[in-house]
Amino acid sequence: MFGNKTSAVATIRLILIPIFVIVVIIGSGGAYLLLRHDAMVRATETARLVLNTAVAIRGYTQDQVLPDVAKAPTSQFYETGVPAFAAQSVYKRVQGMNPAYSYREPALNPTNPNDRPSSVEVDLINRFRAEAQLDELTGIRDSDAGAVFYLARPIKITNADCLVCHSTPDKAPPSMIAKYGPSNGFGWQLNEIIGIQTLTVPIAEQLKGSVELAISLAGGLLLVFVVTYFVLTYTLQMTLVRPLRELTDAAEAASVTANERAAINVSGTKEIQDLADSIARLRLSLMKALRRLASGEPPKA
Ligand code: HEC
Repeated sequence: MFGNKTSAVATIRLILIPIFVIVVIIGSGGAYLLLRHDAMVRATETARLVLNTAVAIRGYTQDQVLPDVAKAPTSQFYETGVPAFAAQSVYKRVQGMNPAYSYREPALNPTNPNDRPSSVEVDLINRFRAEAQLDELTGIRDSDAGAVFYLARPIKITNADCLVCHSTPDKAPPSMIAKYGPSNGFGWQLNEIIGIQTLTVPIAEQLKGSVELAISLAGGLLLVFVVTYFVLTYTLQMTLVRPLRELTDAAEAASVTANERAAINVSGTKEIQDLADSIARLRLSLMKALRRLASGEPPKA
């Protein structure tokens, strides 16, 4: 991995930088994914709550308002008693106050042209129609109010009462036909998925928050790493690299001097000083051995 002449600092760099990069990517990327997941979970909770309110408005209209409205003179049609109308009207007001909140009941063949589905909604309706066991779809999409979290549930006709107004025009109140015409919102079947309840809740802020937090984390980690890197390489330089270089120079100088007792003076850690002493001793013994050889004395064991 390391060339045979790689310096100590270069070696440290070779080890530390890849570790830093991996830690920053995994750390900040992981934090972003966790925060995003958390934002999705919270948006799902809010969306379910909003949907329950819409379901409650529908139920209230069906059970409490419609019977009273039905008692009114039949010449006029009161859409105030229509569950879909009540729920959507309430949420239009909510959206007026909080643009990211919206609630719709689009149908493939809607009574009110305003409930015609967008292409995205058509896709959602068709998925529910194709997969009977599917009961909820969620996701993020763009809107005028920025990124929003959406939740959709199928509307299945399970109550035969609905078919009074949605099967054939002759069964529907004439006042309704007068208002909505005889061609829209009819022909629905019992147990058919005819549309969806779909709503949006805000998530743009939370997503932005996740990105910002992940970036701050990456910045923080980077700062810690830069400081660690410099402290580490500086310490290495001061305690090892420089003293070793000095020692090399000193040993080299001693090898050419005539004074065989010349000390090898170096600064540095205890280990470096010990090494310097050993080199001095080694040099001395070498000199002695050489001298003995030259004088023909047998070498000491
Ligand atoms: C009294 C007649 C009447 C009854 C009963 C009725 N609806 Fe409707 N429905 C309407 C009218 C009228 C509209 C259009 C309201 C508007 O202008 O927004 C409508 C709209 C809807 C919509 C929105 C899509 C569209 O067609 O515009 C859905 C979904 C819906 N109805 C489902 C149901 C279901 C489910 C039931 C039974 C629980 C039901 N309706 C019962 C008259 C009725």
